[in-house]
Amino acid sequence: MPTYRTASEAETISLGERLARTLPARGVVLLTGSLGAGKTMLAKGIVSGLGAAPADEVSSPTFTLIHEYGGGRVYHVDLYRLEEARELATLGLEELFDRDALVLIEWGERFPQLMPAERTEIRIRTVGDDEREVEVTP
Ligand SMILES: Nc1ncnc2c1ncn2[C@@H]1O[C@H](COP(=O)(O)OP(=O)(O)O)[C@@H](O)[C@H]1O
Ligand SMILES: [Mg+2]
Repeated sequence: MPTYRTASEAETISLGERLARTLPARGVVLLTGSLGAGKTMLAKGIVSGLGAAPADEVSSPTFTLIHEYGGGRVYHVDLYRLEEARELATLGLEELFDRDALVLIEWGERFPQLMPAERTEIRIRTVGDDEREVEVTP
């Protein structure tokens, strides 16, 4: 399982840019890790690496829950504020999964039964003040 270490926010963004090339153009990527681990930083890098938007235009979809980039090529979802699985229905996540797009999801592990079985997982762990360990599970 490929494991990487980063020593700063900027390094995590560039790791995301490199990882972007290894991800399928279509599919679901769960970004897991505790609050402040760096899931959103990694998403910035992935969106930028895919050429869908510059990293500094990618912000956390904490309140809107879904952000779209590159004219629908990439979606960034954050389910942290979602309280119940049935709210997901109104979000239209199922429909996103059917699109020809890469869907990045933070806090998707809160609703495991609603996540597609076929997915990539990227786990981020804080190992020091500014150090993170990133593990990719295809
Ligand atoms: N190596 C690192 N990688 C990513 N973020 C880091 C790193 N070191 C420090 N940070 C800080 O940790 C925080 C990560 O925030 P964010 O990506 O929003 O986390 P999450 O989405 O997992 O809650 C940011 O404040 C960032 O500056
Ligand atoms: Mg986040």
